[in-house]
Amino acid sequence: MLPVAAGSMIGVARLLIVHHTPSPATADLLDAVVRGAGDPAIEGVEVVRRAALAATASDLLEADAVVIGTPANIGYMAGAVKHFFDTVFYVCGDDTSGLPYGFYVHGNLDTAGAVKAVETIAGGMGWRLAAAPVTIIGAPDAAAREACYELGATLAVTGAEGAA
Ligand SMILES: Cc1cc2nc3c(=O)[nH]c(=O)nc-3n(C[C@H](O)[C@H](O)[C@H](O)COP(=O)(O)O)c2cc1C
Repeated sequence: MLPVAAGSMIGVARLLIVHHTPSPATADLLDAVVRGAGDPAIEGVEVVRRAALAATASDLLEADAVVIGTPANIGYMAGAVKHFFDTVFYVCGDDTSGLPYGFYVHGNLDTAGAVKAVETIAGGMGWRLAAAPVTIIGAPDAAAREACYELGATLAVTGAEGAA
């Protein structure tokens, strides 16, 4: 591949995973998303993972698809993920309109408020939901990991198709 800019290659799509991962349970889910995005059957996709408190507007502008990962905190997305959206919302403006996205929410009781919060703000940015939200309550089991794996794979494929 020919390098065309820092961190960018001709013919390579970029999947950005923005996550807040404060515990082993959430790390388990992030790991499954990353493994799915890197499925050997998927070609031409670079997977970039960023902690929500470190992700930038430049990270987002370079992405062909995005996965958001958050705990449910007090009936909302984690403050760290809200901070990411606060950081990029007006900087990116309409520039990421149409960006395919997916997300997962982990909670120990009720994830509905966090799901609604992510969908509302992503909708405000004009993003396009490309996979059903993945919600997990309690300790992740094999089904939860599989759902996150599929989420990562789906968004990687969607990003590659969009960049082609
Ligand atoms: C301040 C705080 C608020 C929380 N609020 C919710 C909530 O509203 N709904 C929920 O399902 N879980 C809630 N949780 C649980 C977190 O989602 C959970 O701790 C996180 O996903 C990490 O999972 P773990 O604690 O099983 O490792 C809360 C946790 C904290 C620390």
